[in-house]
Amino acid sequence: MTGRSPVGTAAAAESLMGSGGWREGAGMKTAALALEAVIEHAELQSSISLSSDDLAPRRARAFTRTKLAEWSLDVLVDRVLLIVSELVTNARCHGRTKPEGLSEEITLKISYQNAVVGIELEDNSRQLPVPRKGPTGALDGRGLCLVAAEADAWTSCLKPDGTGKRVLAFLRWPSTPSAV
Ligand SMILES: Nc1ncnc2c1ncn2[C@@H]1O[C@H](COP(=O)(O)OP(=O)(O)OP(=O)(O)O)[C@@H](O)[C@H]1O
Ligand SMILES: [Mg+2]
Repeated sequence: MTGRSPVGTAAAAESLMGSGGWREGAGMKTAALALEAVIEHAELQSSISLSSDDLAPRRARAFTRTKLAEWSLDVLVDRVLLIVSELVTNARCHGRTKPEGLSEEITLKISYQNAVVGIELEDNSRQLPVPRKGPTGALDGRGLCLVAAEADAWTSCLKPDGTGKRVLAFLRWPSTPSAV
């Protein structure tokens, strides 16, 4: 993990997300630290190292599907798979530090704590993801928008040891229906 002491709890994270208080923007850092506690103190957690190649998204989805079934969280599978697909594809396409063809690993970690699922993707690049604001007709630049729409919260941070970064997304279960 980051080496920082957790400053929040899963309950704090849940309350922040429940209040709709965290998206990229105001309050993000506080909430991100609280949400890290979901991963640091997870009741259920599993991770997989993947070769950063074209098969990584498929392997990541298979791993995720298996874990959510084991944890009786099938109800979240579509939302989690979408986020995992986008984050792993991003790590594969934008997060490599070695030339194509040389082996490089990325790590996916799925956690569950107090009705919050955490998805963490580690890659080796120190470039943080930045949502793109392209023209409506753009063919790419949509992945992080999908993550933001599907997750209750997400963020990214550099690893303190200088070896890359983590991209984190969180989903609350059961989701609160949006107000009409
Ligand atoms: N893991 C990553 N490492 C470095 N940069 C990233 C990473 N993920 C995303 N980015 C940057 O953030 C931008 C936006 O990512 P996003 O997923 O929204 O779009 P995209 O990957 O370019 O296109 P699409 O996902 O629609 O195929 C990327 O173009 C890239 O510059
Ligand atoms: Mg993308």
